[in-house]
Parts: sequence; structure tokens; C-alpha cells
Amino acid sequence: ESPIKLAVIPGDGIGPEVTAEALKVLDAVAPHAFSTTHYTLGAEHYLATGEVLPDSVLDEVRGQDAILLGAIGGKPNDPNIPPGLLERSLLLRLRFELDHHVNLRPSKLYPGVGSPLASPGEIDFVVVREGTEGPYTGNGGAIRVGTPHEMATEVSVNTAYGIERVVRDAFARAERRRRKLTLVHKTNVLVHAGSMWWRIVNEVATEFPDVAVDYLHIDAATIFMVTDPARFDVIVTDNLFGDIITDLAAAVTGGIGLAASGNLNPSRATPSMFEPVHGSAPDIAGQQKADPTAAILSAAMLLDFFGMTEAAERVEKAVAADIAERVAGESRPTAAVGDAVAARV
Ligand code: NAD
Ligand code: IPM
Ligand code: MN
Repeated sequence: ESPIKLAVIPGDGIGPEVTAEALKVLDAVAPHAFSTTHYTLGAEHYLATGEVLPDSVLDEVRGQDAILLGAIGGKPNDPNIPPGLLERSLLLRLRFELDHHVNLRPSKLYPGVGSPLASPGEIDFVVVREGTEGPYTGNGGAIRVGTPHEMATEVSVNTAYGIERVVRDAFARAERRRRKLTLVHKTNVLVHAGSMWWRIVNEVATEFPDVAVDYLHIDAATIFMVTDPARFDVIVTDNLFGDIITDLAAAVTGGIGLAASGNLNPSRATPSMFEPVHGSAPDIAGQQKADPTAAILSAAMLLDFFGMTEAAERVEKAVAADIAERVAGESRPTAAVGDAVAARV
């Protein structure tokens, strides 16, 4: 079989450090399964060249089978980088152009992991975050900037097509799991989009009679995420609520260093993109302090997406074993964690 063409975008800050470990583990568990092409993109590349994501590079990436991404984002408030430029024109552009409408973010409390919750219970859920719409589309603007009458809008875009496809994906996942789907929204205030999400969830529910439907407003969802996270199986939500709740989900399951994600186009018409939930962490970059586990688990999601289920399971088991042996307060260099997991797979 010919190798899977993998575009590697290590990016900024801790991105290259954690990506190197994910590649190390992929190579250990599935040698020769991938042929990688590295792309130098991100803050440094922008500062050196003024380029963010040239169309020619996007076209090349589009021709690959999948993408492994580290993190994108420069130093906070760098005066030489316009706010949001890299996030919008690189990371979100990839998600939008490649139609990554299912942003899949699993949360699991591994045995031995310290949760900040006193009695966390068994946490094992996935957030299916809509990835191409909502307030992320850049639909808005500002007028009278700098005057006392300045006004800015960020309009949330929600289409029936966009909602239905992600809701259907979430139901299908729930059917294969514990058969419970929770819609998280804010239907009491955001009535236009909220009604549409609620109606479509109930319409699609008729195709999945075995799946129980639950609903929480986003504010209440943050309560239950802390007081009773075991109640969740599959959460489906919009792009912004999904962003926020998955950082909280990461925190209650042992921290952002463990949280993996896949930006999926389930149709496979374009390459899907696998990346840790965390960002470039400029505060710890370049010091081998980052936990590469999130990147490694994202690589496991990549294996799973390509049907290499056994290899994916081996990575997950190796990570679980590595986590179980971690000693509170101990910190290993990024590469040492990668070495340990690679040795176990
Ligand atoms: P962040 O996730 O980079 O960092 C938040 C905190 O978590 C920091 O204290 C950081 O040190 C810690 N942290 C993150 N990953 C860690 C890891 N693997 N191991 C140990 N600690 C870890 O979020 P931020 O500070 O809000 O954002 C920094 C930059 O990253 C911004 O430019 C932001 O836009 C960008 N960002 C990019 C992505 C992405 O590329 N997918 C995701 C989130 C944020
Ligand atoms: C994430 C990040 C991104 C998002 C940013 C950096 C655009 O926070 O992947 O969670 O908001 O989706
Ligand atoms: Mn986020």
C-alpha cells in the first residue's frame, strides 16, 4: 500500500516541540505508513516573509491526505503581527477552506490523572464542535473606530446545511457510544440560531430513536462540566461555545496538555487536520516544558480516521500507561514523554 501523504505544520511556540513527539510515536507504531511533507508556516514565517498562507501552499496542502498541526500564534500582543491575523488567515482558513465541519474533541479522565475536581466520576465524552460557521466566519465589522461612537459587530452565521451535517455526525457517534446527545446552546437569548439548532436536533433525532436527547444552555453546561461531567456522552454545539467548553473539558480531565482534536471532513474530499486543543503557549515555548500528550493523542485520532484502529489503540494504551506512572509534581522534558510513549507502542 502506498503511504498516506501527511502535511506537517509544526507552527509556533511549543508547536514544533510537541509535533516532533507525535511524529516519533507515529513512526514507532506505524513505520512507513506516512510520507510527510513539512510546511513552515506561522508567526516566524510571517515576520520573516510577510506571508501567512499563500494560495499555492494551500493548494499543495489540499493535495495531501491529512494534516498534522502543532499550534499557530505568535507572542501575545506582538506589535508586528496584526491581531488575529495568523489565527484567521492560517488556522481558520485551513479549517474553512478544507471544510472541517466536524471539530471532534474527546475528553476522557485517564486513571491516575489528577483532576481539579474533588469527585470527578467517570469522565468520557466527546464534543462535536461545528467547525466552519458561527461567529468565526469573520462576518462583521467596525465603524467610527476610535471615536466614542465606535461600534463593532461579529455576526454568527448558522445555516441549516451546516447545522444538519454536524448534528447528524454527532448522533451517529452517540449511537456508537452511550447513546446520549446533549445540545449545548443559548436558545433563551440567541433565539434565531437557537431555534434552528433545536429544531434540527429534534428532526434528526427521529432517525436515531435509540439516542436520548438532552439540552443545556451554555452557562448551565459549564456548571455540569464541573459538578457532574459524567453525565455527558456526546455534546454537539456551535463553533464558539465548542471552543470555550472544550478548554474547560480539558481542564477537568487533567489539563490542556492532554486534550486532542481532529478537524474532520468526514466525506474525505479534503484532508482532515489533527491538532492538540492547546495553542502555542509562548510562556513555556522552547524549554522542553510542554506536554506532548495532546499532540500524540491527536496522532492517534489520525490513525483511527484512516482505519488503523489497532495502531490507534496501541498509542492510546501507551499514553494511558505513561500517564498512570506519572508522579505528581514531576516534570519530564517534552522529548522524554515522546520517547517513553514511543517505547511502549
Ligand atoms: P495556550 O493553549 O497556548 O496556553 C494556555 C496555557 O496552557 C499556558 O499557560 C500554556 O503554557 C499552557 N499549555 C498549553 N499547552 C500546553 C502543553 N502542551 N503542556 C503544558 N502546558 C500547556 O493558549 P493561549 O495562551 O490563549 O494562546 C497562545 C497562542 O496560541 C495565541 O496566539 C492563540 O491564538 C494560539 N492558539 C492556537 C491554537 C491552535 O493553533 N490550534 C489553539 C489555541 C490557541
Ligand atoms: C482552538 C483555538 C482556535 C479556535 C483559535 C486559535 C482560532 O482556540 O483551536 O481551540 O478558537 O478555534
Ligand atoms: Mn480554543
